[in-house]
Amino acid sequence: MADIWKTMKQNLTDENAFKALQNYYNNHKQNLNMRAMFDKDCQRFQKFSKTLKCEEGDILIDFSKNLITEEVLNLLMNLLKARGVESMRKAMFSGERINITEDRAVLHIALRNKSGNPIIVNGKDVMPDVQRVLAQMRSFSDRVRNGTWKGWTGQTIKDVVNIGIGGSDLGPLMVTEALKPYADGPTAHFVSNIDGTHMCETLKKLNPETTLFIIASKTFTTQETITNAVTAKEWLLKSAKDQSAVAKHFVALSTNKEKVTEFGIDTANMFEFWDWVGGRYSLWSAIGLSISLAIGMDNFEKLQAGAHFMDNHFRDAPLEDNIPVILAALGVWYINVLGAESHALLPYDQYLHRFAAYFQQGDMESNGKSVTRSNAKVSYNTGPIVWGEPGTNGQHAFYQLIHQGTRIIPADFIAPAVSQNMSLRDGLHHRLLLANFLAQTEALMKGKTREEATAELKKSGMTSEQLNALVQHKMFDGNKPSNSIVVPRITPFTLGALIAMYEHKIFVQGVVWDVNSYDQWGVELGKQLAKAIEPELVGGAKVSSHDSSTNGLINFIKDIQAK
Ligand code: F6P
Repeated sequence: MADIWKTMKQNLTDENAFKALQNYYNNHKQNLNMRAMFDKDCQRFQKFSKTLKCEEGDILIDFSKNLITEEVLNLLMNLLKARGVESMRKAMFSGERINITEDRAVLHIALRNKSGNPIIVNGKDVMPDVQRVLAQMRSFSDRVRNGTWKGWTGQTIKDVVNIGIGGSDLGPLMVTEALKPYADGPTAHFVSNIDGTHMCETLKKLNPETTLFIIASKTFTTQETITNAVTAKEWLLKSAKDQSAVAKHFVALSTNKEKVTEFGIDTANMFEFWDWVGGRYSLWSAIGLSISLAIGMDNFEKLQAGAHFMDNHFRDAPLEDNIPVILAALGVWYINVLGAESHALLPYDQYLHRFAAYFQQGDMESNGKSVTRSNAKVSYNTGPIVWGEPGTNGQHAFYQLIHQGTRIIPADFIAPAVSQNMSLRDGLHHRLLLANFLAQTEALMKGKTREEATAELKKSGMTSEQLNALVQHKMFDGNKPSNSIVVPRITPFTLGALIAMYEHKIFVQGVVWDVNSYDQWGVELGKQLAKAIEPELVGGAKVSSHDSSTNGLINFIKDIQAK
C-alpha cells in the first residue's frame, strides 16, 4: 500500500469497488426510501450518527437522513480504501509533497499542531518557525489591542482593514463574523474586490490616524490586493504627508519578502508563512492576524486547538468511524452514483453567514478539477457546486427547489444547541430557529404523500374538484438527503473543529476523484486575459484584437465612457 498516492490510479468508475457500489444502487434503488427505512429500524439514528467528545461538550453528526444502508456505507468504505485514502492521509500528515503540480507539501495541519511533535518537511522540522510566527502574532496583537502600538499621531488603533482576496480574505472574514461575540479588539474590516466601491465605502467610515492596514497576500502579486493596498497607502499619506507613517499603519502577511519590501513595508512588520500553506487553508497561519487582533490571540489559539482536535480524529479514527471520511463518502455516493451536482451548506446561526461562501472557495477551488493526478481527463464528476445561506433566510428563498424541484441536492444543516444570544426573549428566537432546522430535515426526509395532502385539503373544507386540482402541487416526494451537524455552541474551539472537518472532507474527496486538491491553475487564464484587456480600455481607438463578442463589449463600454 505504501506510496499508492504516487502511482497511477485506475479510473474511478473502473474500480471493482465502484462497480460494486453502482451495482448495489442499480439493484436496490427502489428500496432506498428513508421514510420506510426509519419506520422499519428504530435504531437508525443510533446506527448512522456519531458523537465527538471534545472539551466543550459533544459534537453530533447525524447522517441517518441519507439514502444509505449499512451495506452502502461498507461499499463506500471499500471504495475509499481502494482509492488509497489511508496512505494519502498518512502522506499528508507526514509532510510529503502531495501537491504534485506545485511540488509542495500540504501542511495546514502543522499550523495548528499542538501535540509538541515535530513535522518534517524536506528534512527540517517546521514547528519552530510556526511557533515563532505565532509568538510574533501574539506580541503584535497584544500591543495593538492594549494600545501600546500607536499610529503616527500617537493615537491607538481602533480599526483594522484586512486587504486580501480569496483565501487571504474569506477565512479571516468568515471567522471574525462567526466569532463576533468574542470581539473585544479593534473593529475588523475587509476589502477584497478590485471594484473601487469596496475600498471607498470602507474608507468613508475610517480615520487614518487610528486605522491599521493588513496587506494579506501569499504571493504579494495579486492584482486586486496590490491595487487596493496602494490605494490605501495613498489615502494614509494624503493625511500623514510623511512616508514614515507607513511603518505604523501597514503590516504584511506573506511568503514573499522581496515583494513586501518592494511595496514599502519594513520586513520587521511582516508576518511570514510558507509555500506549504495553501491559500484557502491559510486562516490558521499569519493570514489569521485580523482574527487575533479582533478576538485576541488566546481565542485564535483556541480556534487552532479545535482544528487540531479534528485533525487528530481524522488522522487516527478508522475510516468507518471517521467523520470527515463519512461526509466525503456520502458526497461521492450522491455525486458519482446518484448524479447530484451541488451541495448546500445551511448554517442555522446568523454568525455563520459567510460559512458557505468560505467553503465555496475551499471546496470548489480545491476539487473543481478535471485532470487526474496521473494527467488523464476524468470521465466522472468531481467537486460539487457548493452554495448556501443561513437558515431561516434560505427557507424563504431557495428551499422550494430543494423540496419540490427536480434535482437531488444533498444538504448539511449546521446548528448550535445553545445560541450566543440565548437570553433574547427567554430563548424564543433560538427555539424557533432550531424548530425550523429540525422541521426542514424532517420534511426533506419524510415528504408528504398523496394521502396526507388529500386529508389536509379535505380538512380545510375543499370540494373534491378543488382538491383534485391542487393535491399534486401539495405533495412532497421527500427522500431528500441531509446531514445534521450540531455543536454545543459556536465558540473558537467548535468553529475550528467544524472548519477542519470540512477541510478533511474535501481532501478525502480529492483522493477518491484522483485530483490534486491543492493547486488552482483554473483561475489563471482570466487573470492573464484581464492584463491584456486593461490597456485596451484606455483611449479612443476601436478594439479588434478579440472575438467579436469581446470586441463588441469593449467598444460599447468605451463609447459610453467617451460621452
Ligand atoms: O484565486 C486564486 C488565488 O490564488 C487563491 O487560491 C488565493 O487564495 C487568492 O488567489 C489570493 O492569493 P494571494 O494570497 O497570493 O494574494
